[in-house]
Formats: sequence, structure tokens, C-alpha cells
Amino acid sequence: MDSRGSCRDDSGLNLDLALKVKEKYGTVQKYPGSGERRTNTPQIISETEAEAVIETTPSNFESGEPGLANIKESLSAKRHVVTANKGPLALAMPALLELASHTGVQLRFSATVGAGTPFLDLASKCLPGEKILGIHGILNGTTNYILTRMDEGSLSFQSALVEAQKKGYAEKNPANDLRGLDTAAKIVIIANWVLKHRISINELKITGIENITPRRINAARKSGARIKLIGRLTETQASVKPEEVPLDDPVCVPGSLNALSFSTRHVGDVTLIGRGAGGEETASAIIRDLVDIRSEYSI
Ligand SMILES: NC(=O)c1ccc[n+]([C@@H]2O[C@H](COP(=O)([O-])OP(=O)(O)OC[C@H]3O[C@@H](n4cnc5c(N)ncnc54)[C@H](OP(=O)(O)O)[C@@H]3O)[C@@H](O)[C@H]2O)c1
Repeated sequence: MDSRGSCRDDSGLNLDLALKVKEKYGTVQKYPGSGERRTNTPQIISETEAEAVIETTPSNFESGEPGLANIKESLSAKRHVVTANKGPLALAMPALLELASHTGVQLRFSATVGAGTPFLDLASKCLPGEKILGIHGILNGTTNYILTRMDEGSLSFQSALVEAQKKGYAEKNPANDLRGLDTAAKIVIIANWVLKHRISINELKITGIENITPRRINAARKSGARIKLIGRLTETQASVKPEEVPLDDPVCVPGSLNALSFSTRHVGDVTLIGRGAGGEETASAIIRDLVDIRSEYSI
């Protein structure tokens, strides 16, 4: 379904056709035979017999809606949920995890942190049994691109932002990225999932990059560092703010890359670097979650 309607076929949708219909008419409701104009998502979720719901509505950090209601409805109706939507998790992750556990289904969200780059899977699948003491890194490609261009291209904040928008690295309304909310949401998800800290975004101290000046960028450069928007988690603290990152820190990556370092008790620091956004990357993570659920539940 999309914002204007839905389509349904109990024997399976023809995805190529659904995509063509969406491209041509702007909504899947024109899908032959079964398209519907109504957009009462909770009702659709409870009425269909799907075992899993994929929730990818836009991230809303104020109310979490419409994703929050969609996820609650799905979990309550015993549907596994795979989501790329950070809003509901940033605001209500502890309650949603509890609901999933109560109804005996899975809530998966690999795409929310790093899109296709498996930051969450690295922690849960490659470091099981290891004590993760903390994490720090760059979790937002838009801000990293802007800070990189301010540094390497000697651009002002505004010019770097306009360039990022022209190149498709920044959205038309980039406020959630620039103010640090997108990074903060990811920190909340890692805190809850990896460190089992039951926190929400309202408990974080968040500083964005809007006030970073070329002067501050130059000062960092002179001391052998770069200004980066860093999300940081320790056993007792969670923060998002611009920091001076030494060049020899592996998370000091350029352009729109993301990088996350896990500090562990026995293995030392483990760092993963990759792209943190993109439609195909996000879809890849969603498929990964579905395959995981399938192998666990044989649905
Ligand atoms: N793209 C990425 O790189 C990326 C990476 C990681 C996570 N994410 C997250 O993944 C989610 C989707 O991202 P996107 O880039 O695909 O966003 P998008 O292009 O804005 O797509 C959002 C989709 O949700 C639909 N929608 C909006 N409101 C709805 C409603 N009330 N009921 C039903 N459907 C509704 C839209 O329908 P219409 O087509 O009718 O507008 C559209 O199909 C977001 O939460 C985003 O933060 C994206």
C-alpha cells in the first residue's frame, strides 16, 4: 500500500505489475481487480492473513505516526514486523520489543541503522558472547558529506548543504539529519538492541551540525583531526554531537560514508564502514530480516 490506497491478491501480487501501476498512476490502488482507495492500514493489517508486515512509511520523530500505529497493530495481530522506519523505534522501542515478545512474534529493523551495512548484525551475530562496552561513530551520511565538503572544498555550511541536496545526499527538508535526530534515533536503536539499555530519544542530549563554522573546521584540521557528527554510547551515557575526531580513528571516514566502532572487552575495537542509505541497500536489509524470520519460524 501507499499513502493513497492499497492492492491485494491472496494468491500473491505480481510485483512487476504493481511497480508499473505505481509508476503510471502514482498509487497502487489502480492495480487491476483488487486495488482499493481506502487507507485504513490497521484494518488492512488485521484483516489480511499475511504472516509478516513490512513497514516503510516516513520516519516521524515527533509522534512516530503512522508507523507506530502500524507496528503496534501488526504485533498485536501476531504478525512479524520488518521495518526501516526509525521514528516508532526512537520513541517507543522498549514498549514495542515487549509487545513483540508478549505476542510471540519478531520485530526486526536492520535497515534502520546503516541501511544495507549490517551494523546491528555485526553486534548480534558476529560478536555474541563478547561484552560490548560502548560504541561510537558516524551514522548519518548527509551530515558527513556536508562536513567533508566544508573541510575539503572550503565551502560554507549553506553551500555544502545546497551541494548535498543537488547530489541527492540531502533531502529537501534535511532538518532531522542536520539537527542530529536521525543519528540519535540510530543510537537509541543500538542502545536498546545491542546494549539492552531501555532508552528513548527524549533522554538523549543532541547537538546537530547547523552551527558548525569554517573556522571550527579549520581549527580541527590544524590539530590533525576532522569535525564529525558522532553518536556515542557507553554503559552510562548516550550522546550525539559534533566532535573532533583524530585522523587515525577508523571512524574518521570521508564523504557520505557511515562508520561504527564497537569497543569490546576481549577483541578490542571492531569497526565497520559502509554506505548508510539508499533504496536498494535498504531493501537488501529488509530482505535479510525476512529471510532471518523465515529461517527461525519456517513460515
Ligand atoms: N531511503 C533510504 O536510504 C532509507 C535508509 C534507511 C531507512 N529508511 C527509512 O525507510 C522508510 C522509507 O524510506 P523511503 O526513502 O522509501 O521514503 P519515501 O520515498 O518517502 O516512501 C515512503 C512511502 O510510505 C508511503 N506512505 C506515506 N504515508 C503513508 C500512510 N499514511 N499510509 C500508507 N503509506 C504511506 C508513501 O506513499 P506515496 O508513494 O503515496 O507517497 C511512500 O510509498 C523511512 O522511514 C526512512 O526513514 C530509508
